[in-house]
Amino acid sequence: MEWFEKSKIRLCFDENGEFRLLCVSDYHAPAERDWDERLIRAEEALLDEARPDLMMILGDLTHDGALDTRDRLERYAAAIAGPMEARGIPWAHVPGNHDREEGIPTEVFAAYPHCLSVRGPAELPGYGTYLMPVYPSDGGEEPALLLWAFDSHRGGVWERECGIPGPVEFRSQTTGFDRGGGVTHRQALWFWETDCRIEAVFGRRIPGIMLMHSPLAEHRLIPTNPSLTGMTGALEESCGIPSLNSGLFAAAYERGDILAVVTGHDHINTFAGRYMGIELSEDGSLGYDVYGSDHLRGGRLLTFRENDVRAFASEHVYLKNCPGAADFLFREGHDD
Ligand SMILES: [Fe+2]
Repeated sequence: MEWFEKSKIRLCFDENGEFRLLCVSDYHAPAERDWDERLIRAEEALLDEARPDLMMILGDLTHDGALDTRDRLERYAAAIAGPMEARGIPWAHVPGNHDREEGIPTEVFAAYPHCLSVRGPAELPGYGTYLMPVYPSDGGEEPALLLWAFDSHRGGVWERECGIPGPVEFRSQTTGFDRGGGVTHRQALWFWETDCRIEAVFGRRIPGIMLMHSPLAEHRLIPTNPSLTGMTGALEESCGIPSLNSGLFAAAYERGDILAVVTGHDHINTFAGRYMGIELSEDGSLGYDVYGSDHLRGGRLLTFRENDVRAFASEHVYLKNCPGAADFLFREGHDD
C-alpha cells in the first residue's frame, strides 16, 4: 500500500501482545559548541528504564540551524542515534519549530539502520509528515495500530507554504514562541483522506495516535480544565499553542479512531488529560543546552496491548526515577 512508507523495520506487537512507545523531545543542539553529554546519558537511562519498541523524538533536535557544518551535523547524529542503535531499538523523529530542513536533513538520520524517519508525501508542506503502521504479533498484514507523525512547522508556514498572510493574533491570544506555526489544514485533510482509504481497504477504522512537536490548540484545554480532563503531570509554563487552529483535532475526533496526541515543545510541562475521548499530552524536554528542569526531564510512555488497543496506558517516565541517571542529575550549578 503506497501510503505506508516502505519501512526497513516492521513494527509489531511483541510476543506478549504489547507495544511500547516512548516519546521524547527538545534536544536543542547548540551553536558553536558541542552538546551537553548529559543528553546522551539521559537517552540511555530512559531507554533502559522504559524499554520501548519505538522511540519517537518529537522535534527541536537542533536550535535554529545550529549544526552549521556537515561534520557537526554528522557527529551529532551519531551521538544521539548511538543509544538506540546500540540497543537495537527502532526510532524516528519529526521536526520542531527550531529545526530546519537545510540544517538537519532527514536522510542523515534515516541512514541509521534503526531509524524509521522519512520525509513523507511530497505534496504536503514541510517534511516529516508520515505514517508508521504497527502490525499484530501473529505476523498478520492488517495493522493493529497506526502512528501518525506530523511536521508542525515554525512561524511563517502559511506565508512560505501557501503564499498567504499568516494568522492575525489578537491580544487575547497568548500563544507560544512559535507564533504562526502549527500543523496546516492541508495535513489535516491528508490525515482524513488517508485514514478513510485505510478503512476502505481493511473494512474497519484502525486505532491510531498522533505525534508532533507543537501542541494543538486543544491541548490548552487540559490545564485550564484539570478536573474535567483528569489532568496528571506538571504545568510549569503556558501551553505554546499555534495562532491558528487548523482543524486537526476535529478531524481526529470525527474519524473516531485517534486515541492520543503526544507533543513536545513546552520543556517544563509533562501533563496529560482527556478531552472528548482523546488523550492530549506533552513530554518534558531532554536536552541540557536549553531551559529545562531535572525534576521534569523524561519522556511519555504509551503502552498498548493488542487485544484492546484503545485501553492503552500512558505515563510520564521521569529521568529522576531512572537508575542510570542518578549520577548526573541535579548537579551543582545546573538549572535546578
Ligand atoms: Fe524546544
